[in-house]
Amino acid sequence: MNAPGKKLSFPFSPTHDMEYGTEVPDMGTGPISTEPVVSSDYFEREREKIFKRAWLQVGRSDEIPETGDYFTRQLVVLNTNIMVVRGKDNVIRAFHNMCPHRGMALATEPCGSAKGFACEFHGWAFGLDGVLNYVPAEESFTNLDKSKLGLRPLACDSWNGFIFVHWETEPEQGLKAFLGGMGEQIDGFPFDQCTKIAHYSATVKANWKVCVDAFQEAYHGHLHRTSIPGAGDPELVLPTSVRLHGPHRSISSWMKPDMQPTPAELTAYMHCPVGFAKDAGQKIPGSNPNNDENWWFDINVFFPNFFCDIGGGWYFTYNFWPISVNETQWNMNIYQLEGTSAGERIVQEFTRIVMRDTVYEDMSTMEFSQKAFDSGVITEQVIGDLEILLRHQYWVTDQWVNKA
Ligand code: FES
Ligand SMILES: [Fe+2]
Repeated sequence: MNAPGKKLSFPFSPTHDMEYGTEVPDMGTGPISTEPVVSSDYFEREREKIFKRAWLQVGRSDEIPETGDYFTRQLVVLNTNIMVVRGKDNVIRAFHNMCPHRGMALATEPCGSAKGFACEFHGWAFGLDGVLNYVPAEESFTNLDKSKLGLRPLACDSWNGFIFVHWETEPEQGLKAFLGGMGEQIDGFPFDQCTKIAHYSATVKANWKVCVDAFQEAYHGHLHRTSIPGAGDPELVLPTSVRLHGPHRSISSWMKPDMQPTPAELTAYMHCPVGFAKDAGQKIPGSNPNNDENWWFDINVFFPNFFCDIGGGWYFTYNFWPISVNETQWNMNIYQLEGTSAGERIVQEFTRIVMRDTVYEDMSTMEFSQKAFDSGVITEQVIGDLEILLRHQYWVTDQWVNKA
């Protein structure tokens, strides 16, 4: 076990070191087998042991602000479609989007607002709380007990406006306990003051963990040398602090202290430093937990498949939804503090474009990696200390998959 405060130094960057902000278990230093990203058997075990046993982030409460507002989600990994609904009592609930009569979907649109849900097939009617209120020709059924035929629920809870669901209706661990130190670390970030400014999605022909890996280390600055001038310098973005919270993981990354802004950055940030700037968010609660003076952003990975990365005045989320062993649905939402002046709007637009371009670059690697692993030619991934979150992902995944 490596204790908090332990520092790792790197000769190639004498002014930089990486500190463990929490206990870090001994996860070895060797290469990691590609078995967990190519094996169909392993994927089926993940479905049962991880995705049916972990809290999964499916949306934000501000997507359904009013009574009766709902959205649906296709969760292929759970073989279900769910609906998330705000009830008359303001409680947000999640149900399998399936009629208990003969299985028709109750909500056929991706989102909307309803007073209740009447099934299109035979007209069974359910309240926003999932209770079955009305059955046409009820007398034609023998011993029909409406109280036992409500919509099938999933457990549902929220943290900082993020809605999570759990396959089990009464999970062993509540959401707060599941998030543990990870939730505590980020608590206080002004999520409710941010506005969604962009949404991107794609289907990627790669295992969900390969996709997670592409976004959970800052070692790949080289890939972004076009969209972020200076990123070709391996010192530009380096992790300064690593924190492991149970199955979840975070790193803080710096921007190299003597990095000079480009003319475009200078222009964009002339009237407002909030945006993709390195120093704008140091005082924002929930960010930069190690108070690094050169802090740039935090990568926060909520096990198994949700990211909430935080920077100065912005955050963005990723969800990586497994479709099959080598196919993943990727969603990204970018949020920023509300811009209140022309200067802020310019910075925000600049930030949005830089993020868009970097993500395009990120998307270019995953399918090549998966093909190489599927070929059987590459049977191991070689992982360095700057990629420690990858090592943690495979270590945790193995633990969950092998749980009783
Ligand atoms: S399937 Fe819904 S009322 Fe028959
Ligand atoms: Fe990237």
